[in-house]
Amino acid sequence: MLKSKDLLDIKSLEAGEIESILEASAGYKDVLRRDIKKVPTLRGRTVVILFFEPSTRTRTSFELAAKRLSCDVVNFSVPNSAVVKGETIVDTALTVEALGAETVIVRHKSSGVPHLLGRSLKASVINAGDGINEHPTQALLDAFTMKEKKGSFKGLEVAIVGDVLHSRVAKSNIYCLNKLGAKVRLIGPPTLVNESMGTDLARVYYSMEEGLRGVDVVMMLRIQMERQGGGFFPSTEEYFKLWGLNEQRLALADRDAIVMHPGPMNRGIEISSGIADGPQSVILQQVTNGLAVRMAVMHLLASGGRA
Ligand code: CP
Repeated sequence: MLKSKDLLDIKSLEAGEIESILEASAGYKDVLRRDIKKVPTLRGRTVVILFFEPSTRTRTSFELAAKRLSCDVVNFSVPNSAVVKGETIVDTALTVEALGAETVIVRHKSSGVPHLLGRSLKASVINAGDGINEHPTQALLDAFTMKEKKGSFKGLEVAIVGDVLHSRVAKSNIYCLNKLGAKVRLIGPPTLVNESMGTDLARVYYSMEEGLRGVDVVMMLRIQMERQGGGFFPSTEEYFKLWGLNEQRLALADRDAIVMHPGPMNRGIEISSGIADGPQSVILQQVTNGLAVRMAVMHLLASGGRA
């Protein structure tokens, strides 16, 4: 069951709501294994995808998920819209709602835009990433992948490595993993992982060698160059030397540890190609699972929280 008409963040979800989404996602994963992957569940529902930032995975999987549910989908093109003439985001969203949008999926560089639209529209609003705030469906697909690979979250040790400061993926994962009973470690340079991030929700490490020891999951983060003014680390070469995931460092984690990355990856900066393409990597499985998770989220929101 979901309580809200919107999915705006993980912070305000209860553990039971997250578990409901994961359960519904497992059902949709089974659907996606069938020869015929399209179901009539949301036939005729109008979904508008409103992305003000670039995306490959999230945008494509939301569009495919909506099409698999038999929705009518509009991929709104911001550069060719009246936004360039100065129309506000709220007026833009009200306009697509007046045209019939019942679900609006939004990505924006400013934190809080999905919350603003959630208050302004009757339609369901799904946050597909807002600035440095949250990326809830990414955390849900990450949790789904961890559950699939590790079975349970109880006592699971998850290391989140890199640019935590600018990462909406990290924030959503910290909330999600804590609600589900996992333990979170944050690893990175002090410029990107503040001491103040060490709370009841996470422990901070300033050494890969210490932080990775014995963990069950290693989640590497993308360096968010577009959100950094520069000066957070001297060079990408040095970053990889100190904070990149390579074979020697991964050997410190549990021998069955899985390696995750939300993508897009900067190979040779955050992660070596040997690890990204290696046997412990579940990076492409995360992408595949995103489809089932987004189908589940759209279905649950459209049906008032019950699939
Ligand atoms: N993980 C993620 O949000 O990737 P995209 O930017 O490609 O959507």
